Amino acid sequence: MADTRVTLNGIVLDNPVIPASGTFGYGYEFAELYDIDCLGSFSFKGTTREPRFGNPTPRIAECTAGMINSVGLQNPGVDKVISEELPRLRACFHKPVVANVSGFSVEEYAETCARLDTCPEIGWLEVNVSCPNVHDGGMAFGTSPEAAAAVTRAVKAVTKKPVWIKLSPNVTDIASIAAACEEAGADGISLINTLLGMRIDLRTRRPVIANKMGGFSGSAIKPVALRMVYQVYEAVQVPVIGMGGVSSAEDVIEMMLAGATAVQVGAANLVNPFACRDIIDDLPRAMEKYGIDKLSDITGGAHNG
Ligand code: SIN
Repeated sequence: MADTRVTLNGIVLDNPVIPASGTFGYGYEFAELYDIDCLGSFSFKGTTREPRFGNPTPRIAECTAGMINSVGLQNPGVDKVISEELPRLRACFHKPVVANVSGFSVEEYAETCARLDTCPEIGWLEVNVSCPNVHDGGMAFGTSPEAAAAVTRAVKAVTKKPVWIKLSPNVTDIASIAAACEEAGADGISLINTLLGMRIDLRTRRPVIANKMGGFSGSAIKPVALRMVYQVYEAVQVPVIGMGGVSSAEDVIEMMLAGATAVQVGAANLVNPFACRDIIDDLPRAMEKYGIDKLSDITGGAHNG
């Protein structure tokens, strides 16, 4: 029988499939559609210390083989996440969950993570230093090794949970940023967040997105994501959580061969809300097709020889 299990920071997942933050709400919204306990885990909506209304609309633009979003980290703030969202989630998801955290200062990242550290349902903290849709925060911390390391150190000081740093592809040398985060104590590196992009309306001759630019995701970015996962795998010892354009069981295998221990699925959930369940159901078939008995054996397989 196909063994789809993988281990992340000592926690065994039934399979490596994790819905990416911002594409799966706080989980319970999708539990109305299917039993989300089939997931390896999931990464909940990016959470900040204070509530955020997000960016003006339009925030979404369709593209060939992808989409642009500029949501701007809309969320109810960490206190409401703990008091309202997590109890709802607890009723329908019975595995450790990934808490995705954003911030506008090193102190804010640390305070939000310290609050989430108290929540037993959270298995990992995924610290997002790569949101392209906000000013004075988000991606600003993920574009220099020093700034990313400073956030990592501050967060590690306030939590015993494993900390992943979610990196931006909008940089020249992602491997050096990943290595700086590992050096500062990161327990995992997740990548890639979205690529900064834009669209222009031919009739108005203005950007489609109110914020002008946004994050491009979807199957079009998969080759970029694979390249960066491959590079980061060679630069760090900690687990790599790969994402970017994954929409099939074959994509999961490809991402793992590049170096991912687990794989996040993002934009595909917005096209097909059953995407993660369908991928998980299809994994044994794809594993048999490519001669894989144990999925965890293939991580980094593309680097051999
Ligand atoms: C957003 O809320 O703007 C998206 C989050 C992200 O890309 O990190």
